[in-house]
Amino acid sequence: MSKIVIISGSPTKTSRSSAISSYIENQLINQVQQVSKITVRDLPPEDLIYANFNSPEIKRALSQIEQAQAVIVVSPVYKASYTGVLKAFFDLIPEKGLADKIILPIATGGSIAHLLSLEYAFKPLFSVLGGQEIKDGIYFVDSQISYQENQLTFLDVDVEHRVNTALQELVNRLAEKKLSVQS
Ligand SMILES: Cc1cc2nc3c(=O)[nH]c(=O)nc-3n(C[C@H](O)[C@H](O)[C@H](O)COP(=O)(O)O)c2cc1C
Repeated sequence: MSKIVIISGSPTKTSRSSAISSYIENQLINQVQQVSKITVRDLPPEDLIYANFNSPEIKRALSQIEQAQAVIVVSPVYKASYTGVLKAFFDLIPEKGLADKIILPIATGGSIAHLLSLEYAFKPLFSVLGGQEIKDGIYFVDSQISYQENQLTFLDVDVEHRVNTALQELVNRLAEKKLSVQS
Protein backbone atom coordinates (compact mmCIF):
# COMPACT_ATOMS: atom_id res chain seq x y z
CA MET A 1 0.00 0.00 0.00
CA SER A 2 1.30 3.48 -0.87
CA LYS A 3 1.77 6.03 1.87
CA ILE A 4 0.30 9.51 1.59
CA VAL A 5 1.19 12.39 3.90
CA ILE A 6 -0.89 15.55 4.25
CA ILE A 7 0.98 18.68 5.36
CA SER A 8 -1.31 21.30 6.84
CA GLY A 9 0.24 24.77 6.83
CA SER A 10 -2.08 27.11 8.71
CA PRO A 11 -0.82 28.74 11.90
CA THR A 12 -4.44 29.01 13.09
CA LYS A 13 -5.92 26.26 15.27
CA THR A 14 -9.44 26.14 13.87
CA SER A 15 -8.99 26.88 10.22
CA ARG A 16 -10.38 26.27 6.77
CA SER A 17 -7.27 24.56 5.53
CA SER A 18 -7.16 22.31 8.61
CA ALA A 19 -10.79 21.38 7.96
CA ILE A 20 -9.86 20.60 4.34
CA SER A 21 -6.91 18.50 5.54
CA SER A 22 -9.20 16.50 7.84
CA TYR A 23 -11.74 16.04 5.04
CA ILE A 24 -9.02 14.76 2.71
CA GLU A 25 -7.64 12.46 5.39
CA ASN A 26 -11.09 10.92 5.91
CA GLN A 27 -11.72 10.54 2.18
CA LEU A 28 -8.41 8.73 1.74
CA ILE A 29 -8.92 6.53 4.81
CA ASN A 30 -12.32 5.56 3.37
CA GLN A 31 -10.46 4.45 0.24
CA VAL A 32 -8.23 2.30 2.46
CA GLN A 33 -5.16 4.45 1.88
CA GLN A 34 -2.31 4.63 4.37
CA VAL A 35 -2.47 8.29 5.28
CA SER A 36 -0.82 10.45 7.92
CA LYS A 37 -0.90 14.16 8.64
CA ILE A 38 1.66 16.75 9.67
CA THR A 39 0.08 19.84 11.19
CA VAL A 40 2.90 22.36 11.06
CA ARG A 41 1.43 24.51 13.87
CA ASP A 42 1.75 21.52 16.22
CA LEU A 43 5.52 21.27 15.71
CA PRO A 44 7.68 23.01 18.34
CA PRO A 45 7.80 26.70 17.27
CA GLU A 46 11.42 27.12 18.42
CA ASP A 47 12.53 24.18 16.28
CA LEU A 48 10.91 25.83 13.26
CA ILE A 49 12.24 29.32 13.96
CA TYR A 50 15.79 28.16 14.73
CA ALA A 51 15.81 25.47 12.02
CA ASN A 52 16.59 22.75 14.57
CA PHE A 53 17.41 19.75 12.38
CA ASN A 54 18.07 17.66 15.51
CA SER A 55 14.59 18.07 16.98
CA PRO A 56 12.92 14.65 17.51
CA GLU A 57 9.53 16.08 16.44
CA ILE A 58 11.01 17.52 13.25
CA LYS A 59 12.86 14.27 12.54
CA ARG A 60 9.60 12.35 13.00
CA ALA A 61 7.77 14.63 10.55
CA LEU A 62 10.60 14.42 8.02
CA SER A 63 10.58 10.65 8.25
CA GLN A 64 6.82 10.65 7.45
CA ILE A 65 7.64 12.60 4.29
CA GLU A 66 10.59 10.39 3.42
CA GLN A 67 8.44 7.27 3.60
CA ALA A 68 5.53 8.72 1.61
CA GLN A 69 4.92 8.23 -2.09
CA ALA A 70 2.57 11.22 -2.26
CA VAL A 71 2.46 14.52 -0.42
CA ILE A 72 -0.63 16.73 -0.24
CA VAL A 73 0.18 20.27 0.88
CA VAL A 74 -2.75 22.34 2.16
CA SER A 75 -2.05 25.97 3.04
CA PRO A 76 -3.83 29.28 3.29
CA VAL A 77 -2.52 32.07 1.11
CA TYR A 78 -0.75 34.68 3.21
CA LYS A 79 0.54 37.79 1.44
CA ALA A 80 0.17 36.20 -1.98
CA SER A 81 2.13 33.05 -1.04
CA TYR A 82 2.11 30.05 1.33
CA THR A 83 2.36 30.79 5.04
CA GLY A 84 5.64 31.61 6.77
CA VAL A 85 5.27 28.67 9.13
CA LEU A 86 4.91 26.27 6.21
CA LYS A 87 8.08 27.72 4.66
CA ALA A 88 9.92 27.36 7.99
CA PHE A 89 9.04 23.66 7.94
CA PHE A 90 9.94 23.23 4.26
CA ASP A 91 13.34 24.80 4.99
CA LEU A 92 14.04 21.70 7.10
CA ILE A 93 13.28 19.20 4.32
CA PRO A 94 16.56 17.91 2.88
CA GLU A 95 17.66 18.78 -0.63
CA LYS A 96 15.69 16.67 -3.15
CA GLY A 97 13.48 15.51 -0.28
CA LEU A 98 10.42 15.48 -2.55
CA ALA A 99 12.03 13.58 -5.43
CA ASP A 100 9.97 10.62 -6.71
CA LYS A 101 6.87 11.80 -4.84
CA ILE A 102 3.59 12.90 -6.31
CA ILE A 103 2.67 16.33 -4.96
CA LEU A 104 -0.82 17.79 -4.79
CA PRO A 105 -0.99 21.47 -3.75
CA ILE A 106 -4.17 22.90 -2.23
CA ALA A 107 -4.56 26.55 -1.24
CA THR A 108 -7.30 28.60 0.39
CA GLY A 109 -7.54 32.34 -0.10
CA GLY A 110 -9.80 35.21 0.85
CA SER A 111 -10.29 36.05 -2.82
CA ILE A 112 -9.56 34.67 -6.25
CA ALA A 113 -6.87 37.35 -6.74
CA HIS A 114 -4.06 35.03 -5.65
CA LEU A 115 -5.11 31.89 -7.50
CA LEU A 116 -1.83 32.01 -9.41
CA SER A 117 0.17 31.72 -6.18
CA LEU A 118 -0.18 27.97 -6.81
CA GLU A 119 1.96 28.46 -9.93
CA TYR A 120 4.43 31.16 -8.88
CA ALA A 121 4.85 30.31 -5.17
CA PHE A 122 3.78 26.77 -4.27
CA LYS A 123 5.03 24.84 -7.31
CA PRO A 124 8.56 26.35 -7.36
CA LEU A 125 8.95 25.41 -3.67
CA PHE A 126 8.18 21.78 -4.49
CA SER A 127 10.38 21.78 -7.61
CA VAL A 128 13.41 23.04 -5.74
CA LEU A 129 13.05 20.05 -3.43
CA GLY A 130 13.16 17.69 -6.39
CA GLY A 131 9.40 17.34 -6.91
CA GLN A 132 8.83 16.40 -10.53
CA GLU A 133 5.27 15.14 -10.59
CA ILE A 134 3.40 18.16 -9.26
CA LYS A 135 -0.33 17.93 -9.93
CA ASP A 136 -2.50 20.88 -10.86
CA GLY A 137 -3.44 22.52 -7.60
CA ILE A 138 -6.87 23.26 -6.18
CA TYR A 139 -7.71 26.75 -4.94
CA PHE A 140 -10.59 27.42 -2.56
CA VAL A 141 -12.03 30.86 -2.01
CA ASP A 142 -13.32 31.26 1.57
CA SER A 143 -16.90 31.78 0.38
CA GLN A 144 -16.91 28.27 -1.15
CA ILE A 145 -16.54 26.47 2.16
CA SER A 146 -17.59 26.75 5.76
CA TYR A 147 -16.14 24.95 8.73
CA GLN A 148 -16.72 24.33 12.38
CA GLU A 149 -14.26 22.50 14.62
CA ASN A 150 -12.47 21.11 11.57
CA GLN A 151 -15.81 19.89 10.16
CA LEU A 152 -16.00 21.01 6.54
CA THR A 153 -19.11 21.91 4.54
CA PHE A 154 -18.81 22.65 0.84
CA LEU A 155 -21.00 25.59 -0.19
CA ASP A 156 -20.06 24.97 -3.83
CA VAL A 157 -20.60 21.42 -5.12
CA ASP A 158 -18.21 22.02 -8.00
CA VAL A 159 -15.32 22.45 -5.57
CA GLU A 160 -16.24 19.27 -3.71
CA HIS A 161 -16.25 17.44 -7.03
CA ARG A 162 -12.85 18.89 -7.95
CA VAL A 163 -11.26 17.76 -4.68
CA ASN A 164 -12.66 14.26 -4.91
CA THR A 165 -11.60 13.93 -8.55
CA ALA A 166 -8.06 15.09 -7.69
CA LEU A 167 -7.87 12.58 -4.82
CA GLN A 168 -9.12 9.76 -7.03
CA GLU A 169 -6.56 10.65 -9.73
CA LEU A 170 -3.83 10.67 -7.10
CA VAL A 171 -4.83 7.25 -5.79
CA ASN A 172 -5.02 5.85 -9.35
CA ARG A 173 -1.61 7.30 -10.21
CA LEU A 174 -0.05 5.77 -7.09
CA ALA A 175 -1.46 2.37 -8.04
CA GLU A 176 -0.14 2.77 -11.60
CA LYS A 177 3.35 3.74 -10.35
CA LYS A 178 3.40 0.78 -7.97
CA LEU A 179 2.49 -1.61 -10.78
CA SER A 180 5.21 -0.23 -13.05
CA VAL A 181 7.82 -0.69 -10.27
CA GLN A 182 6.69 -4.28 -9.68
CA SER A 183 6.71 -5.30 -13.38
C1 LIG B 1 -1.99 37.26 7.59
C2 LIG B 1 -2.98 36.92 6.49
C3 LIG B 1 -2.63 37.18 5.18
C4 LIG B 1 -3.52 36.86 4.15
N1 LIG B 1 -3.17 37.13 2.86
C5 LIG B 1 -4.01 36.80 1.86
C6 LIG B 1 -3.64 37.05 0.50
O1 LIG B 1 -2.59 37.59 0.19
N2 LIG B 1 -4.51 36.66 -0.47
C7 LIG B 1 -5.72 36.07 -0.20
O2 LIG B 1 -6.46 35.73 -1.12
N3 LIG B 1 -6.09 35.83 1.09
C8 LIG B 1 -5.26 36.17 2.11
N4 LIG B 1 -5.62 35.91 3.42
C9 LIG B 1 -6.89 35.20 3.68
C10 LIG B 1 -6.64 33.69 3.93
O3 LIG B 1 -5.81 33.12 2.94
C11 LIG B 1 -7.93 32.91 3.92
O4 LIG B 1 -8.86 33.46 4.80
C12 LIG B 1 -7.66 31.43 4.26
O5 LIG B 1 -8.76 30.65 3.90
C13 LIG B 1 -7.36 31.23 5.73
O6 LIG B 1 -7.07 29.88 5.92
P1 LIG B 1 -7.07 29.23 7.37
O7 LIG B 1 -8.45 29.42 7.94
O8 LIG B 1 -6.75 27.79 7.12
O9 LIG B 1 -5.99 29.90 8.17
C14 LIG B 1 -4.77 36.25 4.45
C15 LIG B 1 -5.10 36.00 5.80
C16 LIG B 1 -4.21 36.33 6.81
C17 LIG B 1 -4.61 36.03 8.24
